[in-house]
Parts: sequence; C-alpha cells; structure tokens
Amino acid sequence: MIDNIKVLYSEEEIQKRIAELAEEIDKDYNGEEIVGICVLKGAVFFTIDLIRKMKTPVDLEFMQISSYLGTESTGVVNLKKDLEVSIEGKDVLIIEDIVDSGNSMKFLVDYLKTKNPKSLKLATLLDKKEKRKVEVNIDYTGFVIPNKFVVGYGFDIDEKCRDIPYLGYIE
Ligand code: IMP
Ligand code: MG
Repeated sequence: MIDNIKVLYSEEEIQKRIAELAEEIDKDYNGEEIVGICVLKGAVFFTIDLIRKMKTPVDLEFMQISSYLGTESTGVVNLKKDLEVSIEGKDVLIIEDIVDSGNSMKFLVDYLKTKNPKSLKLATLLDKKEKRKVEVNIDYTGFVIPNKFVVGYGFDIDEKCRDIPYLGYIE
C-alpha cells in the first residue's frame, strides 16, 4: 500500500482539460471518421473520457507496448499487442497516457507510419518534457508536468494504483 500520494490534478481538472482537448481535436478533424488507437494499459481511462467528449466518430483500436519496469524506463520497447485492422489510408490518432523519454512513442509512430495511414497524430494526457531523450512530435497535450512519478487515472506503479480517480504523484 502506497500512502504518500499527493494530488497533481483533481478529477475535475482532468475532465476540464480533456473537454478542451476534445474540442480542439473535433475542430481539426471536421467530422471525418478516424481510427483512435488506445495504448494499453495506462491510456484506457484518458481514451474513454476523451472519445466520449469528442464528436468526431472514432473506430477504437488497442495496441500494447512495454518499455517500463518499476519507475525507470529501460529504453527497450516491445510490441505486446499489434493492431488487428488495416489503417492504410485512414486518419489515425494515437491516444497515450504519457510521453517520458519518448522511446515508446518514437517506436510506435515509426511502426505505424509503415502501415501507410493517411495521417498520423498523437494525443497524450501528460508530457514529462524534461525527461525527453528522443524527439517525438505531439499534436495534443493535456498537461506538461515536472519530473515526478505519477500514479492514478490509469498510471500505475508495478500495476498498482491505476484505479485512483485523480492524478497523483509519489515523492
Ligand atoms: P517513455 O518510453 O520513456 O516515453 O515511457 C513511456 C511509458 O512509461 C508510458 O507510456 C508509461 O507507461 C510509463 N511511464 C512514464 N512515466 C510514468 C509515470 O510517472 N508513472 C507511470 N508510468 C509512467
Ligand atoms: Mg504507456
């Protein structure tokens, strides 16, 4: 049990920011159907809240990659669950929980580009900018956060704490 969790963003703050992102995304896609790729597992909560607020029709798909053990990124990215549909010629939006070193999203973006989508964009709830090691182009960012280890609202520490309703951090 982890008992020293501080609040970074409350449930209300998260939902308010996601509503703003949804509006921005809707403007950009102009009613065209897109494929939304939720990156398991952390982005599940963000994805569901985001696409329910969006008016853009979304075909929801899931992928899973892993690069993380404990609180330190290993830099080695594995594809654990691949796409089960073709995204060729489609407008694709990756929906991710956090961009940290950037290794995971660089890997995923490079991989998805080989599938020839019409367009490929990235939405991330959190951006830990100061930890970036490789360049990643982010189209939609919820919050830029300092270098703290985040838990709750989908974020885990060794699979624990995902179900905490707010975004917290451990000091
Ligand atoms: P990157 O490849 O270093 O950008 O790491 C991205 C992945 O690491 C994210 O998709 C998360 O799964 C995980 N991650 C990075 N920072 C945190 C954190 O503060 N809390 C929980 N998971 C994190
Ligand atoms: Mg992740």
